[in-house]
Amino acid sequence: MDAEQKQTLFNQAKEWTIEAGERIKKRVQQPFEVNTKRDRKDLVTEVDEDTEKFFAERIRRSYPEHQVLGEEGFGDEVTSLDGIVWIIDPIDGTMNFVHQKRNFAISVAIYEDGEGIIGLIYNVMTGDLYSAKNGEGAYKNNYLLPKLNQTRKLEDSLIGVNQFWAVPNRRLDESGVHQLIRKVRGTRSYGSAALEFAFVSEGIMDAYLTMRLSPWDIAAGVIIVNEVGGLATRVDGNPLDMLHENTVITCNPSIHKEIIENYIHLKE
Ligand code: IPD
Ligand code: CA
Ligand code: CA
Ligand code: CA
Repeated sequence: MDAEQKQTLFNQAKEWTIEAGERIKKRVQQPFEVNTKRDRKDLVTEVDEDTEKFFAERIRRSYPEHQVLGEEGFGDEVTSLDGIVWIIDPIDGTMNFVHQKRNFAISVAIYEDGEGIIGLIYNVMTGDLYSAKNGEGAYKNNYLLPKLNQTRKLEDSLIGVNQFWAVPNRRLDESGVHQLIRKVRGTRSYGSAALEFAFVSEGIMDAYLTMRLSPWDIAAGVIIVNEVGGLATRVDGNPLDMLHENTVITCNPSIHKEIIENYIHLKE
């Protein structure tokens, strides 16, 4: 698409994201229905579903030729990234939404023929919008995010990990991760993959790694982090696949090789 089309699509995606955020803010203090999906810890609410419907309906009406890939199943059966595909997580951090009523985000990405073009991560309760158009830098609200400081050392890093790294894992030798946790300055766990990508992009966290994420968790984050010179790959260093689940590391480029070579030991 040309620059004008890209700007128009960006403005539209941003407007819908802010409007969806306003709707979520109105409902967060009211009672809402909470259900489970895969297991008792995998929550979904009627607000997740309504928010995805909100996007799917508007995209279909305005851009019938675009595809929609969304977590809650109101989009299309997407099997190819040909053409324009919106990849949407209506609420990333549903557990935070339910338990904390904050620390969750809307994640919206637009891909063209497999290439990330537009990424938006909206921290609904703070009102912070992280955004990027590929090749044009990344922003937090109206502030252009600086490129990541590439001299970051692993021992001075703050890294995002979750509880799965603390317990035995069938796909990974956890002793390597324990060494990594001892090596770095500190660890954090925010409970929203999209926000963790945003924080790496902002340079307030140096890495985030996890063993299983879906395309909608990472699609916008990858575009934003790339614009500040950050990396996002599978934990074995291979490229991410936006049609399937992935292991994920996103980080400052100065610590990527060291983490994956010295601390991530996958069991084959
Ligand atoms: C989840 C969050 C969480 C991550 C999970 C995701 P959801 O997304 O991003 O931080 O650890 O793997 O599924 O279900 O709240 O959209
Ligand atoms: Ca979910
Ligand atoms: Ca998610
Ligand atoms: Ca979600």
